[in-house]
Amino acid sequence: MSEEALWFAGRATGLVSLVLLTAVVVLGVLGVRRVASARWPRFAVGDLRRDVSLLAVVFLLVHVGAAVAGERVDVPVAAALLPLASEHRPVAVGLGAVALDLLVAVLVTGALRTRLPHRVWRAAHWAGCALWPVALAHALLLADVDSGVLPVVLLAVLCLAAVALSVAWRVAVPKKAAV
Ligand code: HEM
Repeated sequence: MSEEALWFAGRATGLVSLVLLTAVVVLGVLGVRRVASARWPRFAVGDLRRDVSLLAVVFLLVHVGAAVAGERVDVPVAAALLPLASEHRPVAVGLGAVALDLLVAVLVTGALRTRLPHRVWRAAHWAGCALWPVALAHALLLADVDSGVLPVVLLAVLCLAAVALSVAWRVAVPKKAAV
């Protein structure tokens, strides 16, 4: 793969991951019970949320792979999970690693949910809430200066608006009876 294609793949998958993670947060904030309807039962909404998270992981794997394989910047494999392991923009790249660590923790504890004490699962799930702002900060700090920061900032604003609106809706709309 050419260097330009890798760079493009890295940027595109980073942006898609951010959008997918925003969708996961929005679905989580709204709550399965509030979103569910006769057409979209609770299990379907729950499954959708899990599937979108898994899709985000796939895009993130390509994003990290492109960042590590690309030669424009020197990012070691370890930087995917270890904060400050990258000499290039250690804090900004490190925030990406923290977001990925939190996502893995949420998915693993989610998969083991029935075998873990509810308290442990809940604590890990709430810790996962930090994932999104951390990923957003990573994206904004690494927005490519050469090719324009504006698209990333616009996307970040849209993501922020989506989360803010979902929080407002959750506060305004009472819980429905189970569907
Ligand atoms: C939840 C996790 C992550 C999300 C949502 C995410 C998203 C993004 C976004 C949106 C950008 C800006 C792309 C642009 O300029 O258009 C970016 C840049 C970048 N990310 Fe991530 N990222 C994540 C995790 C990681 C991890 C774990 C690494 C470590 C290898 C990483 C390495 C990078 C690098 C090196 C750049 C700059 C790419 C370049 O300019 O060539 N990211 N990321």
